[in-house]
Amino acid sequence: MRILMIGDVVGSGGRRAVGSLLKNLKTELGIDFVTLQGENLAAGMGLTVDTATEMIEAGADVITTGNHVWDKREFIDHLDDPFLPVLRPLNYPTGTPGRGATDDSGPIAVINLIGRVWVGEFDSPFSVVDDLLAGGFGNGKPIVVDFHAEATSEKAALAWHLDGRVAAVVGTHTHVPTSDCKILPDGTGFVTDLGMVGAVDSILGVEVDGSLARFLSGRRQRMQPVRNGLINFNSVLIEIDSSTGLAMSVERVDRQIEV
Ligand SMILES: [Fe+2]
Ligand SMILES: [Fe+2]
Repeated sequence: MRILMIGDVVGSGGRRAVGSLLKNLKTELGIDFVTLQGENLAAGMGLTVDTATEMIEAGADVITTGNHVWDKREFIDHLDDPFLPVLRPLNYPTGTPGRGATDDSGPIAVINLIGRVWVGEFDSPFSVVDDLLAGGFGNGKPIVVDFHAEATSEKAALAWHLDGRVAAVVGTHTHVPTSDCKILPDGTGFVTDLGMVGAVDSILGVEVDGSLARFLSGRRQRMQPVRNGLINFNSVLIEIDSSTGLAMSVERVDRQIEV
């Protein structure tokens, strides 16, 4: 089985790039299942039903998220919609709206976790995922994990913690793609960060002026995604052996497109 996992899609430019590229990529690469990081879909800040639906219609099977999932307040109720395949990180406190894992959204089970180093106060992703797997999560399907985290060390540590128990652990959140695709000794595929679908001429997908002004002034500034121009499409393709549920290959699939 061939799974494409797409990095943080930033704003309308990122969405248009996914809309233009994904259907053809699925055919070209023989993709069976697609995950997409959607925390920045709506103008870079969170997501909405419309922007999530747009990505599902473009070919995404499950949308994962991260710290920005709460930015659009009107969306929070929709996190409990059983027909909308959108996850929020699993290791938020008990009682948080939404769900952090799904094993009934196709041939692949997906877990979404968030890191604690330089991100926030959450339950331990290590023990939370242990509890989930101990409960029989996955229904026998291969499992992939989107670990939305800042620190490269924390991402690698979670991958090693889960080695042999899931097909792949991929990092998201930094918007910067890393070139360290590999398979760990017991068969779990890993990459530190998928990257983003966002503008080449930007700071993490955001207009340079606003982001730069924030650093120069030390104050919050209006920041918005770059909407037009050359877009980086960053993703990783994981080939999974269906009999073992583990990774056979992990490789980057990076494209650029003008939108
Ligand atoms: Fe992001
Ligand atoms: Fe994030």
